[in-house]
Amino acid sequence: MPVTIIIGAQWGDEGKGRFVDNSATDARFVARFSGGDNAGHTVAVGDTVYKMHLIPSGILHDGVIALLGNGMVINPISLRKEVNRLREQGVSITPENLVISSRAHLVTPAHIELDRFKESARGDDAIGTTLRGIGPAYLDKVGRRGLRVGQILDIETFAEEFEASVASHNETLVAAGVTPVDLDAVRDEYMSAINDMRPYIKDTTLLLNKALQEGAKVVAEGAQGTLLDVDHGSYPFVTSSSPTSGGVLTGLGIGPTYVKDVVGVAKSFSTRVGSGPMPTELNGEVAAKLRGTGDNFWDEFGTTTGRERRCGWLDAVLLRYSMMVNGFTKIMLTKLDILSGLDELKIAVAYEVDGERLDLPPTTITQLQRAKPIYETLSGWQEDIMDARTLDDLPQAAIDYIKRIEELCGVPIEVVSVGPHRKQVVQL
Ligand code: GDP
Ligand code: IMO
Ligand code: MG
Repeated sequence: MPVTIIIGAQWGDEGKGRFVDNSATDARFVARFSGGDNAGHTVAVGDTVYKMHLIPSGILHDGVIALLGNGMVINPISLRKEVNRLREQGVSITPENLVISSRAHLVTPAHIELDRFKESARGDDAIGTTLRGIGPAYLDKVGRRGLRVGQILDIETFAEEFEASVASHNETLVAAGVTPVDLDAVRDEYMSAINDMRPYIKDTTLLLNKALQEGAKVVAEGAQGTLLDVDHGSYPFVTSSSPTSGGVLTGLGIGPTYVKDVVGVAKSFSTRVGSGPMPTELNGEVAAKLRGTGDNFWDEFGTTTGRERRCGWLDAVLLRYSMMVNGFTKIMLTKLDILSGLDELKIAVAYEVDGERLDLPPTTITQLQRAKPIYETLSGWQEDIMDARTLDDLPQAAIDYIKRIEELCGVPIEVVSVGPHRKQVVQL
């Protein structure tokens, strides 16, 4: 059983975590291949709500090994907090079920300060990053001055390398008139969290390839979403990694011939957190209804930062693009239950840009900013569908909505979720 890739088809927070959890039951590995603790993946099991940032959502299944791949950037302090939080919730985490690539990169307190400083220097053009130091850590990686996890294994030299890295970033901060990182204040906590990581460090490329040769199933857990990809997203309002299916191969060190399924997780409407164009964004009553009040854990408030998510109608132009970029073999559609109670639903089927009709998004950010959605209107439904388990349990208007999305994207929708819990799914 080879690799199943699970990718966010929009701007992140599509509900990847809950479907990774569903797909992990028969997997040997669930592996993250990109990003860091900018991600926030929610899995609800019974009355317990788990929130994963760095640790793959497969950790909740016995016998599954959660793997942090080489394409990730890892903040050891966040990792320690997350491990502790999950342990408090009763999850067992040992070197038997958590492994970290020695080739992954580390996020330091200086990366976080640089992220903050760069965002504030951008003023009105700020990206709205999660301020987790992600961009600066990837900059160090491609600049060939990053700290890799494997360097921790020689703790004496690592201490020097860490200090040199922070000191060099401090020079930038001081030159910009910003308070630098106080090494004496952060050193002990950082080095102690680094020390905790040591038993988990492995050659994960080798582990994965061996498992794949033996026919084991590997689930690649996407973070962020296609429109946040540094190449394919709405640049520059993107993250600094490749969360699309192409990123899986470099982010885990596996070959394309092992890939069997590429699953796109798409929300039944659009959300975005952070800045940048969002053609179908709504303000007003419908947006408030889609967002929710914040009383439910599934309402549209960021899992990582708590920020209110921007909400709008489903954008089939972007979904079509996402399908093209990732090569989805199927789609899993989430949060259909949230649309209950709306009289009508709109789907953007094309854009109008400078008088021209486009079926795919334009390539430049300025054109995307000018894109006006061309909508198709469908009937809504009033029924609560959270207890639906088969297609027959859904109102006809909900079935029509699902079928229309399938037609517009050209990919079969395999599962629809109608609530955040494991069983709240309709298999099509
Ligand atoms: P991820 O980053 O893609 O894993 O998604 P997040 O966890 O950040 O955000 C998705 C939110 O929607 C979480 O709170 C999930 O519990 C919730 N969720 C997922 N699927 C459904 C669904 O079908 N219905 C409802 N109401 N909530 C869902
Ligand atoms: P999950 O995995 C939604 C967004 C940030 C910002 C941009 C760049 O939960 O879907 P960064 O901190 O990465 O430099 O921020 O990307 N962003 C996300 N939005 N879900 C995420 O992850 C995100 N990770 C980053 O809001 O707009
Ligand atoms: Mg999320």
